[in-house]
Amino acid sequence: KKIISVVGARPNFMKVAPLFRAFQQYRDIQHLICHTGQHYDDRMSRIFFEELELPRPDFYLGVGSGTHAEQLAGIMLGFEKILQSERPDLVIVVGDVNSTVACSLIASRFLIPIAHVEAGLRSFDRTMPEEINRLLTDALADYLFVSEPSGIRNLQKEGIPQEKIFFVGNVMIDSLLYYLPKIAQSEILQTLHCQPGEYILVTLHRPSNVDHREELKELIGLLREIASLKKIIFPVHPRTRNKIHEFSLEDMLPANVIITEPLGYLDFMQLVQHAALVITDSGGIQEETTFLQIPCITVRNNTERPVTVEIGTNRLAGTDPAQIKQMVFETLSNLSAGRQEGQPIRQESVKTPGSKDSRIPELWDGHA
Ligand code: UD1
Repeated sequence: KKIISVVGARPNFMKVAPLFRAFQQYRDIQHLICHTGQHYDDRMSRIFFEELELPRPDFYLGVGSGTHAEQLAGIMLGFEKILQSERPDLVIVVGDVNSTVACSLIASRFLIPIAHVEAGLRSFDRTMPEEINRLLTDALADYLFVSEPSGIRNLQKEGIPQEKIFFVGNVMIDSLLYYLPKIAQSEILQTLHCQPGEYILVTLHRPSNVDHREELKELIGLLREIASLKKIIFPVHPRTRNKIHEFSLEDMLPANVIITEPLGYLDFMQLVQHAALVITDSGGIQEETTFLQIPCITVRNNTERPVTVEIGTNRLAGTDPAQIKQMVFETLSNLSAGRQEGQPIRQESVKTPGSKDSRIPELWDGHA
């Protein structure tokens, strides 16, 4: 049997790595990787292949950036050619990026079965491109692999037949557990002259937060205020970097905000693991902080990953700077009351994932 797994953007790579390893154990399965090239910078792509020990992709579409239409159309044109010549038995797509939906659409035209890993997540916010990508991909998929209970409920409500839905856990957590020993060897803390627990880690890249000058200016103003209390490390996504430059906001960032390029997986996860607090608008980081039991404040009005709020460490702050600020101050004062800096509360309170008193979601056990 021949299977093609699709990756396109940064959050896809750590989801396909455990699949790649698993398929290597089956000699009768030919598992090929197609990289659309949605993300193409070395720091958004190549470093992940190296660190996650992924092979060179079997197919590279080199699509790059553009408008949604350009990106989607480019991926579809490229993937169509591959499906025409390869005729795989299954296409696997992961997550919710443009590459996920574009390749699903083409596979469906060729009547090739589609497996969607990380199916069923819903923010119910159709202004997010990812929500549209999730809805369409799940409508097309034949096998829907779900990472948290809300996903099962959402798919059932949308009328997806039960026999297509598989609650398997979270491949991103499989990666996190697998690479923990390598994450421990990262030297990023020394490089940035930071101690465990003494900094807040920030990531921002959602178009709704960074694409408009006023919103971005307010968020950077907020970082200035927070940085007067605690050191901030801010690895900047290319979209955000471009917008900061376009809106001439560089000078607003104070010296005690440590700005870095986008980081590789191992360095970034070490920073998450030792942060006092993470402030983010990412999807996956809400899950990684929940698993590592690091407090997370999400700068969004909604989340497609409600389990991270219900039993995890995630809090939704919305996008109003005053509200975010209040939540940050609250979290920091709880932390200093509750534990010593440099002593992250991690695995000690973790029971079997999903058990009554565990704060780790069900099946997030490294074996999705
Ligand atoms: C994409 C995903 C988003 C995911 C994010 C993680 C979609 C709709 N969005 O958003 O869900 O959370 O990836 O990073 O698929 N750029 C570079 N170098 C790169 C890639 C991008 O400079 O290697 C710049 C370009 O200016 C580009 C911009 O970043 O226009 C945005 O890239 P794009 O792929 O459109 O979306 P992301 O914002 O990265």
